[in-house]
Amino acid sequence: MTRKPLMAANWKMHLSIREAVDFIARLHEVVAGSEDREVLIAPPFTHLWAVREAMGAAGFSLAAQNCHWEEKGAFTGEISLPMLKEVGCGYVILGHSERRHIFGEPDEWVGLKTAAAFAHGVTPILCVGEKLEEREAQKTEEVLLRQLETGLAQAPAEQVASLVIAYEPVWAIGTGKTASPEQAQEAHAFIRGWLARRYQKEIAKNIRILYGGSVKPDNVDALMAQPDIDGALVGGASLDVASFGRIVRFQ
Ligand code: G3P
Repeated sequence: MTRKPLMAANWKMHLSIREAVDFIARLHEVVAGSEDREVLIAPPFTHLWAVREAMGAAGFSLAAQNCHWEEKGAFTGEISLPMLKEVGCGYVILGHSERRHIFGEPDEWVGLKTAAAFAHGVTPILCVGEKLEEREAQKTEEVLLRQLETGLAQAPAEQVASLVIAYEPVWAIGTGKTASPEQAQEAHAFIRGWLARRYQKEIAKNIRILYGGSVKPDNVDALMAQPDIDGALVGGASLDVASFGRIVRFQ
């Protein structure tokens, strides 16, 4: 079974709606001929409808950058999964390191959100990754295990095959210090091994594991050459359409 590469742009809190629409218009041309890989855009919440409209019939995927696990309620500032589905989101990024380490989102919330995403038919992109001090203390696998176990604690086993995981070493995010292909492959292989033990080998083989953390046009080819790297979750380099287009068109 070959896993279709998923090349994802996480725009975080960047770009105006006008810039987002212009980006999508140009994206069509810069990724033409790359139909053998999936292209995903995760804009800010306020841009989702306009980006979905700009995508038109193109086969691009749309993701939200976060969600709440309840369907409705007195949760000021939050967005529900039914609301995300209404604007065409097929995916949602969960447990991003900025949610965990800047906004203090506990592992348990990530688990609740992941289960809710599956329940609403929205594919979770579950982010896991260690901080520099954790890697230096040889705790990378311990951190990944904790985040995987809590993130998937309530996920229905029969739906996990559609899950996407993003390994994002915190020390590589926004720093320009990309993990080496070997470092990334080692973490991805560890994650896939855990999935095989927790679920079944066949399910683990189907799950796409993305690498995120300073992915650029000049390092994407070496990263994508690794057997357990199935795509990229790109921050800074995804804000420029030519740069993101080159990442999508990895060799
Ligand atoms: O979610 C992807 C993001 O965290 C990576 O950011 O700027 O290092 O590509 P960047």
